[in-house]
Amino acid sequence: MTEVFLRLVRPDDLDLMWGWRNDPHTRRMERVHHMIPRDFYHNWVWHALTSSSRRIYLAEAEGCAIGYSELSLRRDGGADMGINFNPAFRGRGLAGTVIRGAIAAARPELGFDAVWAEIRNQNVPSQRAFARAGFSLWRQGEETLHMVRSEQLDHPAVFRERVSPQVGAGQAGAALG
Ligand SMILES: CC(C)(COP(=O)(O)OP(=O)(O)OC[C@H]1O[C@@H](n2cnc3c(N)ncnc32)[C@H](O)[C@@H]1OP(=O)(O)O)[C@@H](O)C(=O)NCCC(=O)NCCS
Repeated sequence: MTEVFLRLVRPDDLDLMWGWRNDPHTRRMERVHHMIPRDFYHNWVWHALTSSSRRIYLAEAEGCAIGYSELSLRRDGGADMGINFNPAFRGRGLAGTVIRGAIAAARPELGFDAVWAEIRNQNVPSQRAFARAGFSLWRQGEETLHMVRSEQLDHPAVFRERVSPQVGAGQAGAALG
């Protein structure tokens, strides 16, 4: 089994990450489709790295950088999450592990009670990776869907109250196949 390691992103990772962000498949899956200029990307990530409400982790395996995952706190006590992989390491079944690891690393510091991911309807690898990491479908729109994972496993009733009126776990499982 491939071992995956996570660490906080460093400034010398930014060019590598910028390349992955401008990969054609990633651009199709993101909200913004055009090429992101280097300075703009560096400024954006630098701001995120110095923010107390965000964490970005670089994942490594087999001595290579395989992807990054970011979490940013929301006003409601949850966190929004994103992930992007090095194209050379996609399709190897490692994304769910990175998602789980990033949540475990960030939660003690950011203190969120749920994690949310907005994903394009056609982005099956991402939906399956988040499902593998314990996420369920919250709601589906015309272009994107939202998935959520509760971090309050010791208070499941609270989570049911927030989630059940829209989508139950059975529906989520069916939708994701
Ligand atoms: C999303 C992303 C990180 C997933 O990583 P990945 O390495 O491709 O995915 P994995 O190999 O870990 O596979 C995850 C699941 O998707 C499935 N999958 C992988 N590639 C697939 C494909 N092309 N078509 C259908 N299913 C696919 C796998 O079988 C696996 O399913 P399982 O857990 O039910 O067995 C990666 O595809 C990526 O960087 N995409 C571009 C950026 C992006 O879309 N980010 C997400 C925005 S929300």
